[in-house]
Order: sequence, then C-alpha cells, then structure tokens
Amino acid sequence: MTSKEAAIKGVPLFAQCSKNEIELIAKLADEIDLPAGKTLMREGETGREFFIILDGTAEVTRGDEVLATLGPGGFCGEMALVDQVPRTATVTATSAIDVLVLTGQGFSSLRSRLPNMDRAVLDEITERARADAGRS
Ligand code: CMP
Repeated sequence: MTSKEAAIKGVPLFAQCSKNEIELIAKLADEIDLPAGKTLMREGETGREFFIILDGTAEVTRGDEVLATLGPGGFCGEMALVDQVPRTATVTATSAIDVLVLTGQGFSSLRSRLPNMDRAVLDEITERARADAGRS
C-alpha cells in the first residue's frame, strides 16, 4: 500500500472501503500540501472541487462569522457540487494542510460507486445546512 492509500484508508468517510476501492480513490484524488492562509474555496463562487483534510486545520466562514473548524478527516466543498449552488462559505487553511482533492467528476463517480460515502456526505450536508440556516 502506498502512503497515499494508507492516508485514504484513515479517512472516516472511506472507513468501509475495500482495497480495490481505496486504489480507485487514490487514482481519482490528488494529494496536495497547502500553506497556512490558503483559501480552498470562496463563498459565492462556482464549486468545482471537493476537499478532504488529511492533516492540519481549516476554518469555514461566512462573512465575518466562523461556522466551523475542520481537522483531519473533515471535508468541504460538497454542498455546491451536490446541490449545484454557489459556494455557501469560504474555507481557509489555518495551518499548513495536506488535502485530497477530487474534481467534481471524480466526486460524482465516487458517490455513485461508494454508497456508504454517499450517505455520509448527504447526512453531513443535511446537518450543515440545518446549522447554517439556524444562524441566519
Ligand atoms: P460548499 O458550499 O461547496 O463550499 C463551502 C463549504 O463549507 C461547504 O460546501 C461545506 O463543505 C462547508 N460548510 C458550510 N457550512 C458548514 C458548517 N456549518 N460546518 C462545516 N462546514 C460547512
């Protein structure tokens, strides 16, 4: 197993994946290191990518408000891709971070092949949308 595959195996979203599925995810996802302060996505923009944090932390903000802090295993960018709406928040690295990045197409492909992941992503969207609606 490569170090990338080992990192993917440690992501809760992929906890139930087989060896073949982990290999598929490794093929579809890029692993990249980003510096602290880097903006992963900006509120209002069109969404094209899905991110999973392997290491480090990122802050989710809307205007001046901090909605959440994401750490290893956390993911972001799913709402614009699933619901085809503009980015609902800005996500900024608050430390140097190591992330997996999927294109919209790679994300859709994994959702259709991995029902457990799909379910977990949709459940999280429901929770986040509810939390965000409660604030405004
Ligand atoms: P998206 O709308 O594509 O881009 C901004 C992202 O911020 C969004 O997807 C979610 O991944 C994330 N996000 C929005 N609201 C919350 C929240 N309440 N908690 C955690 N993450 C959130």
